[in-house]
Amino acid sequence: MFKKINIALFSLFICLLGCKTKKESVAVKPETTQNPSLKNSFKDDFLIGAALNTNQIKELDTSAVALLKKEFNSITPENDMKWEQIHPAIDSFYFDIADKYVALGEKNNMHIVGHTLVWHSQLAPWMQEVTDSTLMAKYIENHINTIVGRYKGRINTWDVVNEALNEDGTPRESNFYKVMGSEKYIELAFKLAAKADPDAKLVYNDYNLWKPEKRAGVVRLVKQLQKDGVKIDCVGMQGHWSLKGPSIEDIENSIIAYAELGVKVSFTELDVTALPNPWDLNGAAIEQSYEKYEGDPVMNPYPVKLTDSAQTQLANRYEAIFKLFLKHKDKIERVTFWGINDGQSWLNYWPINGRTNHPLLFDRKNKPKKAYHSVLVLKNKN
Ligand code: G3I
Repeated sequence: MFKKINIALFSLFICLLGCKTKKESVAVKPETTQNPSLKNSFKDDFLIGAALNTNQIKELDTSAVALLKKEFNSITPENDMKWEQIHPAIDSFYFDIADKYVALGEKNNMHIVGHTLVWHSQLAPWMQEVTDSTLMAKYIENHINTIVGRYKGRINTWDVVNEALNEDGTPRESNFYKVMGSEKYIELAFKLAAKADPDAKLVYNDYNLWKPEKRAGVVRLVKQLQKDGVKIDCVGMQGHWSLKGPSIEDIENSIIAYAELGVKVSFTELDVTALPNPWDLNGAAIEQSYEKYEGDPVMNPYPVKLTDSAQTQLANRYEAIFKLFLKHKDKIERVTFWGINDGQSWLNYWPINGRTNHPLLFDRKNKPKKAYHSVLVLKNKN
């Protein structure tokens, strides 16, 4: 008798488990006229991309990968091609994940972005210690030739140089700048990338590019490269924004200023933080940390889900942003979100660790949020 009840309970338990798994695995509805995708809705305007974490690249996060395939037509590796990952020691490269990443993009006919060749952050420690300019140039050359060469004709776009400017538009005094004595390292990186894969699109990628002073710095930099005959195709405005700022006008002024240089603009790392910020933060530099706020509920007001009013604010903000993108679609090549869903976002651990942020169009279960619909409706009005 007890045995029978136990078997029945066990079967019920298995059934419940099975039902739950089944329900989660159908979270991504196939595309239909009633259920359109981002990538197809904006196909005549710009590419729609997402940054992938390691589990997504390895296709272990199957639900997120299913959503990726339905909604996006471009990918960027969130961390796996950064110098410290891909070139950890002077004479060794680690390509396992990058190879999988490129294969995933090819298998799904996606526009593949390489991120990022020369960046002061997440640099391998050995490279940070270089003090001789000739050696540094040699190491940059080996880095770019090896990586861009390996994926020649397969990676469509490269973030060649990342975050080389200060907020006031002056050159960032990174180790690259200090050792090479000028911004010549930027020119070197672009020249090498262009030579290693003449067909790849080459991007200068930075945050806070809506700021007038930083905008002026980018204009100066691009003009200098162009004057020296160096190929640059696009300015990447990262787009780590909030509900309140930057203003649409500032973003628009930058789009126009960059396009006037004859280069394209891409939004390379879009997300909109829904949480209060304790600061006066200068952009997205990862070095800043606010440990004293960890665990403070005032700084983490939506630990389970967004309230309806916060969902609406996020939806309105995304709608305004995408209206602007559509207005300037002739200048914009790609809009990439910095992640597929809220659960993977770096904004859950930066600048305050352990918060629950909601900055993307899909929630932690890969379900579309109100913001998703507010963006889609711009293209599917009837
Ligand atoms: O992989 C290790 C893990 O083994 C370890 O246990 C854990 C402990 O902290 O750290 C893990 O590494 C973290 C890595 O993300 C992977 O999750 C690093 O600490 C963390 O610093 C790293 O943050 C990344 C950050 O760049 C620095 O590379 C974020 O995920 C990534 O979203 C962010 O992306 C940058 C863009 O590349 C450039 N523009 C700004 C943007 C946001 O900072």
